[in-house]
Amino acid sequence: MEKEVIGEKIVVYKNLIDGEQIIKDAYALSSKFQLKWTTGVINEGVVDRNVKSCSIINLHDNAADSRDLYREKNKITRVLDEAFGPAMMDYAKTYGFRVKQKEGWEFMRYEETEKFDFHTDQSEFHPCEISMVVYPNSDYEGGQMQFFNYMDGYPWKPVANSIIFFPSTADYRHRVLPVTSGTRYSIINFAF
Ligand SMILES: [Fe+2]
Repeated sequence: MEKEVIGEKIVVYKNLIDGEQIIKDAYALSSKFQLKWTTGVINEGVVDRNVKSCSIINLHDNAADSRDLYREKNKITRVLDEAFGPAMMDYAKTYGFRVKQKEGWEFMRYEETEKFDFHTDQSEFHPCEISMVVYPNSDYEGGQMQFFNYMDGYPWKPVANSIIFFPSTADYRHRVLPVTSGTRYSIINFAF
């Protein structure tokens, strides 16, 4: 596996997926089942576009899903799990995390001017340990990832077809800077 440690416990694994294909799959799924890209909520379940203005389609199981939708969500989930499972296990082993489970994947889309301000992934209601973000594309401007306490606060431009892992704790609070042109996609998940 091609991997790069870009900060303390911040690791990027590269060339693990065909990003263009996975974006096409997400759009095919959303148009076939009329899934809407909805504005992301922040920790307390509130929409605040001054904090988080990107939109989301999630691949979590939902009791209301039809059998067809369930099957197709599962298909994409399996592709992502197979592509990134080994990297997740490698990351967990390297830093001594004992992963018991992870959530469903969530597609995020940031269009021009959209961003996600400084936040912590872990909370009382979301007690995750490892954060992971897949980057299927990089053909946009802006949209860098920035850690408040790490990498000297340097805004890092995601690499297409890669995944980043970092601890979900407050120490690793981070933000996504506004996209200045193009569309930025990411696919997120959390492990416990
Ligand atoms: Fe985050």
